[in-house]
Amino acid sequence: MLIAGNWKMNTDVPEGRALANDIATGLSERPDAFADIDVLVCPSFVHLPAVSDALADAPVAVGAQDMHAEDAGAHTGDVSAPMLTSIGCDAVILGHSERREYYNETDADVNRKVKQARTHDLVPIVCVGESLQQRQAGNAASVVTQQVEGALSGVSIADASELVVAYEPIWAIGTGESAAPEQAQEMHAVIRDNLAERYGADVAADIPLLYGGSMKPHNAHGLLSQPDIDGGLIGSASLAADSFLGIADEAVHVRQEEPA
Ligand code: 13P
Repeated sequence: MLIAGNWKMNTDVPEGRALANDIATGLSERPDAFADIDVLVCPSFVHLPAVSDALADAPVAVGAQDMHAEDAGAHTGDVSAPMLTSIGCDAVILGHSERREYYNETDADVNRKVKQARTHDLVPIVCVGESLQQRQAGNAASVVTQQVEGALSGVSIADASELVVAYEPIWAIGTGESAAPEQAQEMHAVIRDNLAERYGADVAADIPLLYGGSMKPHNAHGLLSQPDIDGGLIGSASLAADSFLGIADEAVHVRQEEPA
């Protein structure tokens, strides 16, 4: 189970450092509970050194929210994979719907970034998800399948084994209206089946599929109990240690309830 926070463009650096410290403190108060749960935070680029530093002794990985597909060059304002690894980043969110919508990122862009992330040993967290209009037109499964196929075109089995996919229905992001657990499960099963066709059932079973979109402590249990939901990618509820770790606590409960 992976509980990941996407801080988006929130908090200044001292606030980010304080949030990271609060998360580290909260985890230190639950010493054994998190043996089976991976925790990741993805702050903005400028926070990464301070947040990595604050979490150096905590069981929390640090990731970025995007990166460029090339190593270096004339790309004003961009950040590269070698820059991220040089400050200890473990993962990078790619193809978030906000990047697709506001920066016109295409599946081909996401695909280049996925390959670049793997070249530099970063775990790509590939985001997919349909709009409300696409869902209402009955196209949710086909939209998401196309995004998965586009993002993973030419990605090897070895690299797929180091991949995370996040299903984030656009209509649930930042709206306070999460997908129902069964609705999310249905889409996760579509994604799992597609990954199984491409990489085989065993590899597909081990690729963590996260749900994102208004996940909160009160709805996390229902979502995380679904068979194909392996964690959460959390936006606004990741901006306070209490709610972020409240979701992580739910992940622990779900794990404890699973048959041995
Ligand atoms: P919210 O949890 O704020 O809906 O954001 C979800 C998201 O976009 C995570 O990447």
